[in-house]
Amino acid sequence: MSSSPASAPTRKLLKVLDGEAFEIPPIWIMRQAGRYLPEYRELRAKASSFMEFCYTPAMAAEATLQPIRRYGFDGAILFSDILVIPDALGQPVSFHEGEGPRLDPLTSIDDAKKRLSGELDLNRLAPVFETIERVRGSLPAETTFLGFCGAPWTVAGYMIAGKSTPELAPSRLLAYRDPEFLEYVIDTLVQASIRYLVRQFRSGVDAVQIFESFAGALTAEGIGRWSIEPIKRIIEGVRKEVPGARIIVFGRGSGSGHIRYAAETGANAVGLDWGVDPDWAAKNVQSIKPVQGNLDPLAVVAGGQALDQGVDKVLKAFGGRPHIFNFGHGIVPETPPAHVEQLVKRIRRG
Ligand code: CP3
Repeated sequence: MSSSPASAPTRKLLKVLDGEAFEIPPIWIMRQAGRYLPEYRELRAKASSFMEFCYTPAMAAEATLQPIRRYGFDGAILFSDILVIPDALGQPVSFHEGEGPRLDPLTSIDDAKKRLSGELDLNRLAPVFETIERVRGSLPAETTFLGFCGAPWTVAGYMIAGKSTPELAPSRLLAYRDPEFLEYVIDTLVQASIRYLVRQFRSGVDAVQIFESFAGALTAEGIGRWSIEPIKRIIEGVRKEVPGARIIVFGRGSGSGHIRYAAETGANAVGLDWGVDPDWAAKNVQSIKPVQGNLDPLAVVAGGQALDQGVDKVLKAFGGRPHIFNFGHGIVPETPPAHVEQLVKRIRRG
């Protein structure tokens, strides 16, 4: 078990979450364990399915550690998926090659009440907690270990549509037609996420990120009710059990909504997507809370000057105040691993 998150941290990334600034910011990359790495593809080929991969501690721990060994990032993120939550609530999830996730969609509030167990099945998630224990035991002392969950609006989107939908149209429609149904699913996810994150902290993570990948699908009004409020309740609930728990919130595509994530959720830091102008965010978001981001992942696919200029722009805008270097969304499978090396060198000026 790890010490209380409230104790003074020695890890750089954690210090940024507490408001410290560094000349060279700590680095991690969303989806840093993934298909752009040959060692990941080799490991992945040994699992019969993606869910099995997530639920096999030896494999998930190895995937978590691969990018740390290769690049020495300041942060390691637990290898798992946001969709283990519906799976552990009784709505099975599967992944099909090239198609993304599949779930049997929830059709009504009665259907949701019947099929979702009110309580998260922590036994089903035992392999995730075992993965955390294994990784914690193997990480370099200076590396921050991040857990995560999906935000309720994002996870509900998959539970209601049963698959990936670009703008979460089925959930957005439900918010107008049957808000009670949506609220039931969101409330169930708030409670499940609190229990899940608390267990992650108790198993050994230093901090967690809440992924609101579809914040950009919400209206200005909807973002308060369906994203900010539920996230705020999760953060309060986690901190009741784990005082001082450090939490990053990533509201992808939320535009000026990033200000609200910083000001209203209680998060320690706010992740920024690549659509946000770093100069604007430095003035309007970083003035409230530490920020994380926000290089375009495709600048790293391109490499060369595009990469160098993109890195410099982010470093310049956020320099002097608390900043964690990251991409504006996940690294893509086409990224040459050598370009990531170039990126780390540029940031660390080595
Ligand atoms: O390295 C890390 O960042 C940690 C692991 C991680 C994964 N998914 C592994 C994964 C994390 C933090 C996630 C979060 C996740 N999963 C999100 C939120 C972040 C985001 O990207 O917006 C979402 C929306 C999902 C749901 C999900 N998982 C989809 C839609 C897909 C299929 C699309 C795809 O990229 O293939 C996944 C599969 C998935 N999760 C993969 C990985 C490495 C690829 C599948 C594989 O390797 O076979």
